[in-house]
Amino acid sequence: MALYDILPLQPQDQAWVARVVCAQWGAEIVVAHGQVFYPARLPGFWAAHDEQCLGLATYQVSGVECELITLDSLVPGAGVGTALVEAVRQAARQAGCRRLHLITTNDNLNALHFYQKRGFRLAELHPGAIQAARRLKPSIPLLGEDGIPIRDELVLEMYLPEQD
Ligand SMILES: CC(C)(COP(=O)(O)OP(=O)(O)OC[C@H]1O[C@@H](n2cnc3c(N)ncnc32)[C@H](O)[C@@H]1OP(=O)(O)O)[C@@H](O)C(=O)NCCC(=O)NCCS
Repeated sequence: MALYDILPLQPQDQAWVARVVCAQWGAEIVVAHGQVFYPARLPGFWAAHDEQCLGLATYQVSGVECELITLDSLVPGAGVGTALVEAVRQAARQAGCRRLHLITTNDNLNALHFYQKRGFRLAELHPGAIQAARRLKPSIPLLGEDGIPIRDELVLEMYLPEQD
């Protein structure tokens, strides 16, 4: 039995969502493919336990495309990340999307592991894209996981069936 509920974000959640995003990503904004996103203003889901946030996912629907903008688990290894991705996948399907995609960076080996084990496939590599992203968000660190230089964007994708 899950020890948390996966709940949709509501407009009144914006302030604390912005705080979580800031704590996790160094600013209220995230940058992907040259675009600035304010995750707190996007639809999403959170994992709730006793009104405490254990994880957060935000996404953006555009036509038949859904982009996962942020995914953060605050209790790694307890199934929260998987449950949040599943919630976004279901929401995308219900919105009529045919593809769910996201961007991660070359250093994020944990995310590459996580997403590929959940059915995402590598779709694109954008070498050097983070240099341009740093102009929009200077707080992006030079080094990421295990001291790997953060340089490139990787697109992962999953096609969504009309029915499971
Ligand atoms: C990537 C991330 C979201 C994964 O979240 P998570 O909550 O740890 O994910 P899960 O718990 O669902 O799965 C992680 C592992 O725990 C295991 N696990 C899940 N539930 C478990 C349980 N109840 N007991 C034991 N192990 C469990 C899973 O088997 C999984 O291993 P696998 O990937 O080898 O299959 C998380 O590491 C994170 O927030 N990273 C930092 C932010 C980030 O990089 N986000 C993605 C950017 S694009």
